[in-house]
Amino acid sequence: MAAMTLNSVNFGAAKAMNFEYVGLKMHQNITSARPHSVKFVPRGLIVNAEAQGEGPVKKLGKSDEECEAAVVAGIVPEAPPVPPKPAAPAGTPLATPLPLSRRPRRNRRSPVLRAAFQETSISPANLVYPLFIHEGEEDTPIGAMPGCYRLGWRHGLVEEVAKAQDVGVNSIVLFPKVPDALKTSTGDEAYNDDGLVPRTIRLLKDKYPDLIIYTDVALDPYSSDGHDGIVREDGVILNDETVHQLCKQAVSQARAGADVVSPSDMMDGRVGAIRDALDAEGFQHVSIMSYTAKYASSFYGPFREALDSNPRFGDKKTYQMNPANYREALIETRDDEAEGADILLVKPGLPYLDIIRLLRDNSSLPVAAYQVSGEYSMIKAGGALKMIDEERVMMESLMCVRRAGADIILTYFALQAARCMCGEKR
Ligand code: PBG
Repeated sequence: MAAMTLNSVNFGAAKAMNFEYVGLKMHQNITSARPHSVKFVPRGLIVNAEAQGEGPVKKLGKSDEECEAAVVAGIVPEAPPVPPKPAAPAGTPLATPLPLSRRPRRNRRSPVLRAAFQETSISPANLVYPLFIHEGEEDTPIGAMPGCYRLGWRHGLVEEVAKAQDVGVNSIVLFPKVPDALKTSTGDEAYNDDGLVPRTIRLLKDKYPDLIIYTDVALDPYSSDGHDGIVREDGVILNDETVHQLCKQAVSQARAGADVVSPSDMMDGRVGAIRDALDAEGFQHVSIMSYTAKYASSFYGPFREALDSNPRFGDKKTYQMNPANYREALIETRDDEAEGADILLVKPGLPYLDIIRLLRDNSSLPVAAYQVSGEYSMIKAGGALKMIDEERVMMESLMCVRRAGADIILTYFALQAARCMCGEKR
């Protein structure tokens, strides 16, 4: 039953994408393009019927030979006249046509042509829905991210996943809001098998066995310092000691049923270490999506508010990348590939399209892009202020990330965008 709903949703989405300008908007006339499989009789079948001696289906009057003879004799049957040339407005200057052999606008002049030559497409299958969870029973709105909530892991979350699956979004990534009292400087709650994330994974896998669950591997939600790694007293983030913790965290998530663990911490060597740790525990089938090029970006602000995970001091510049750097992303790409990453991720998304393209052109692995909280909030704010058309800008931003080379996109718009692709009005 669930599978059937899903198929029809995907079919609808695929059609929506094939029609009208870059799939930004589902148009009503799409229904008229539906194949009328019941009434339509393919020509080949008529020919076969004749061959089997049932005779022509219908005789309209003149034979083919008579029609041809009439035309040869100069008796041309009537057809609508050539329409008059549309008039330009009064005052339009008289210009001699430019001697152009190429006029790229020819391929853009009708919806059908535009749909035929559209180079990039997007469907709900490309989206991963990041969801914030907490221990509470209610859903708490996140001020800086209109439309996003810290969802109760047992109630709101379960409903949100059902809504997403209804429109073909079958992948989520979980971000926990951990009680302050459980945060420590070494972030040990990160690998508590009965912690919020493992518990939630078990619940979701029980209810939705087909759901693909991505997890975040990093210490910041569990760290009393708000950093992704263990902080030495002089402020240095310890690399190898942090990786040790991340391995335990990834194994704990895998044990609970995670499909893809996603280290977002940017420590050196963590992908290889996590791969070894997973394999040693029999989790050969669990994938690693590495945050390959994660930049020290100010676009994460609203997310840190959502999880109350702002670093208590300093910034994340000794592990996240400098936004001014391009070549460095290639170093990270080569390391992650060599260490066994299954998916490479670039973060943020829209301001880093060149990095997405760089990874796309330099690796055969799938590329993911994260349209982060700040990108989401800006589009929401612009829409709320009526400065931009929220829905169109949302769809365009996602299409552009796909065009840059991303296979999948982590986006807080996943549900809204998938509904839009399925032609649902909000
Ligand atoms: C931290 C993490 C961050 C995000 C995902 N994982 C924030 C950070 O690095 O401080 C940001 C996501 C967003 O802004 O939407 N491990």
